[in-house]
Amino acid sequence: MIHFSPMCIGCTLLGVASVATIVGLWTVQLLPSTDPPAEPWDQYRLPDALVPDHYNISLWPRLQPNIDGLFVFTGKSSVVFKCTRETDLILIHSNKLNLTSEDGCLAKLSTLGNTAPPLIQKTWMQKTTQYLVIQLKGKLSVGEYYVIYSEFVGELADDLAGFYRSEYYENGEKKITATSQMHPTHARKTFPCFDEPAMRAVFYITLIHARGTVALSNGMEIEKVDTILDGQAVTVTTFEPTKKMSSYLLALVVSGDYTNITSANDTLIRIWARDKAIADGHGDYALNKTGPILKFFERYYNVPYPLSKSDQIALPDFYFGAMENWGLVTYRETNLLYDPLISSNANKERIATIIAHELAHMWFGNLVTLRWWNEVWLNEGFASYVSYLGADFAEPSWNVKDLIILKDVHRVFAVDALASSHPLSSKEEDIIKPEQISEQFDAISYSKGASVLRMLSDFLTEPVFVQGLNTYLTRFAYQNTIGEDLWDLLQSAVDKTGLVLPLSVEGIMDRWVLQMGFPVITVDTGTGQVSQEHFLLDPESRVERPSPFNYEWIVPINWMKVGAEQSRIWLLVKTAFYSEMKMAGNEWVLVNLNVTGYYRVNYDHMNWERLLSQLNENHEVIPVINRAQIVDDAFNLARAKIVPVTLALRSTKYLFQEKEYMPWESALNNLDYFNLMFTQTDVYGLLQNYLRKQVIPLFAHFKNITEDWSHVPPGHTDQYNQVNAIRIACSTGVQDCQSLTSGWYSQWMDKPEHNPIHPNLRSTAYCCAIAAGGTKEWDFGWQMFKDATIAIEADKLMSALACTKNRVLLERYLGYTLDASKIRKQDATSVIVYIANNPDGQILAWDFVRKNWEYMFTEYGVGSFNFASLINGITKTFSSESQLKQLLEFQSDHSEMGFGSATAALQQAIETTKANIKWVSENQREITDWLVAETA
Ligand SMILES: *[C@@H]1O[C@H](CO)[C@@H](O)[C@H](O)[C@H]1NC(C)=O
Ligand SMILES: *[C@@H]1O[C@H](CO)[C@@H](O)[C@H](O)[C@H]1NC(C)=O
Ligand SMILES: [Zn+2]
Repeated sequence: MIHFSPMCIGCTLLGVASVATIVGLWTVQLLPSTDPPAEPWDQYRLPDALVPDHYNISLWPRLQPNIDGLFVFTGKSSVVFKCTRETDLILIHSNKLNLTSEDGCLAKLSTLGNTAPPLIQKTWMQKTTQYLVIQLKGKLSVGEYYVIYSEFVGELADDLAGFYRSEYYENGEKKITATSQMHPTHARKTFPCFDEPAMRAVFYITLIHARGTVALSNGMEIEKVDTILDGQAVTVTTFEPTKKMSSYLLALVVSGDYTNITSANDTLIRIWARDKAIADGHGDYALNKTGPILKFFERYYNVPYPLSKSDQIALPDFYFGAMENWGLVTYRETNLLYDPLISSNANKERIATIIAHELAHMWFGNLVTLRWWNEVWLNEGFASYVSYLGADFAEPSWNVKDLIILKDVHRVFAVDALASSHPLSSKEEDIIKPEQISEQFDAISYSKGASVLRMLSDFLTEPVFVQGLNTYLTRFAYQNTIGEDLWDLLQSAVDKTGLVLPLSVEGIMDRWVLQMGFPVITVDTGTGQVSQEHFLLDPESRVERPSPFNYEWIVPINWMKVGAEQSRIWLLVKTAFYSEMKMAGNEWVLVNLNVTGYYRVNYDHMNWERLLSQLNENHEVIPVINRAQIVDDAFNLARAKIVPVTLALRSTKYLFQEKEYMPWESALNNLDYFNLMFTQTDVYGLLQNYLRKQVIPLFAHFKNITEDWSHVPPGHTDQYNQVNAIRIACSTGVQDCQSLTSGWYSQWMDKPEHNPIHPNLRSTAYCCAIAAGGTKEWDFGWQMFKDATIAIEADKLMSALACTKNRVLLERYLGYTLDASKIRKQDATSVIVYIANNPDGQILAWDFVRKNWEYMFTEYGVGSFNFASLINGITKTFSSESQLKQLLEFQSDHSEMGFGSATAALQQAIETTKANIKWVSENQREITDWLVAETA
């Protein structure tokens, strides 16, 4: 094993002592029992001896391959840093760069002062920790500024990390753009740097690029000089220096065919995309909304936008949804470009909220940055929460703020109710490796983070919350913080206003941040008793992770009584009595008003009955968010065996009178689980009958308000619910619905160049028409799929083709997944899973995968199929003994070859199937009886 690459011999004569040290090191490492004291370069965190001040970086990406067929970039970089603690060792991040060696050294050291710098003893690359290590013969002096200069070549790979290459085709012609993704730890793949968020510096960027191409970076272009370099006609573009910022926020773009549209009020706003997309007007929506969203955040934070311009660019090839590089935000195309002819209102909402999320980071995250990645949740949770506020300002008619309940709160409840969940915040020393850092970006960080910050803003009230926020952003501008700093300044804002809290802000928030999960609050309206308990979806699961607070929370409880009286109480202990929770006569109480609190609610039997009666008599007395909550809580409490499953079903009985999207969506999400469990049983038919009965009035309502489907309803969420109405009506066999969608589809078949179906309704209408149709409809859909030039449209057809009930067509489609000329390898897994989710395709898909497993596994290999999602997608409906038997046989049949990345998924599938069998056996009788009575 070679510990480091050959040391430089030219710059220093390696003394005998050094050799001895190296030998000594090796010997120590060979000792079996004790680990050697790790060298500084084996530690993933930088020592605190050196602090960067600024970088001068010049990069030249080549958009043509070199003679070896490789795409590369060349670069020169110097970093000026200050020594704050005496040291003879320089560690600076560098990964996968080929640093030019001069005199045997990988970098040069100089000083800004008059004294000569110490000589370099040796330099080497430390691969695992991604350092360039520079060992010195003498010491750097405290207070002095030094410069490291290096020249290097890096690969402009298509790996979506660091400075990388994005390829796409337009009119059959291959185009190449150089772009970047530095976050979280890829700046070191572009130039040597102190690549930690707290190592802020000013970046002076220069890009060298072919004449006529566009070059962009965080700062504004301030100079462009045409020249000849290496015999090539190039432009050298210099950018305005950045603010003092973290390396992960740097961005670089060079492209041959990008253009922009611009607007300027106070801040110059530019939207960049492929020439054609801009010419077709697909950037207009983003341009129109960016100004208002920036204005909103300037007012919300009460801090002006810190930069001279705001660029946003749409990239065809981008791993994340979007990235908040300071001043040059990068997006996946579908998250920035809006095509009114093709995009649905859901696409539009996504664009508005993602722009708001990224622009929120321009202050929270970029101007003030968390010190380390263990608090990713605060950065991401915050941006996710306020993205709803920014989008609401840009689109006030949408009521988009309410949707956080479905998209974040309910979504993350499902994950956070498992014994395997984890707390929001981790210890700094537990998150050190790049892969540990990447793991922090999960649903808990984003969605639970957003949920608990929304709760905090609610109990502080918004004026106090934004006051604290403003002090935080002002006091720590251009600096790094820890979460406690925010709590402290929110506390100061609380103290100033005289708001009374039961504990400090930090004391309350620690309960939600440092322990995983959330409580179910149980209210007994007979006695006034209110209690809390850690909510676990599986009551038999065992919680192994200890909690510093014993799984108890400080819970703000907003409640409302019949007659609309509202107030708040705090639950500070496990159980307490409140006279206001005692109900008399027909009174009911509704707890967790508008679901501002991050918890579920259960009631005594009588209060449940009164709430259900209220829903049936006049549901509008209960706020729409809480109608969605009652359904979601009831189903989840039933899963956890806290309430009978019939209570959950009864919470959906009033739906035949409900027109609003949120309660419907909540019910359909939950009933989907029932559908999945009972696909191959008699219950399935009963459920379909029940749903049909419930949805018919909704379908009629939309037919009426759209004047026989001649337009879509004006309301944003009404548009969503229209899709639900059509989807459920068609899939449960409502004749009117089937003729409607089949009619649209056949009009389209008659005139393929003119699609009469509204973009909102396409996914659903295609699926319904293909399900009701035969070979002719399917073949047409296939042709349209092959001809589609826009990815969103192709995706809709790809999933709709899996909706057919025709066995021959389903088998044909399954076969196509093994033919890359028909279904691209990257889509094969999705197609098989779509087919498995069709009740008529479930068995076929499973048979197909079993039959072809060896071929898929060996011929196609890892990377083409996502075997874990494949196993998970196919088996999630398994709920019978025979399916379990097949699964176990499958496991033993292929045990020799193994299951690669799907090993854990297969084990999980076996566990889940067992749990499903148990759930079905415990509930089937009760559910059947209830459905029979309801649909009789
Ligand atoms: C609850 O949400 C609705 C809809 O967003 C809103 O109109 C209402 O004011 C909210 N109620 C409270 C008490 O916050
Ligand atoms: C149909 O809509 C109109 C208003 O557009 C309304 O007055 C009428 O009550 C609706 N009819 C039904 C059956 O929903
Ligand atoms: Zn973010």
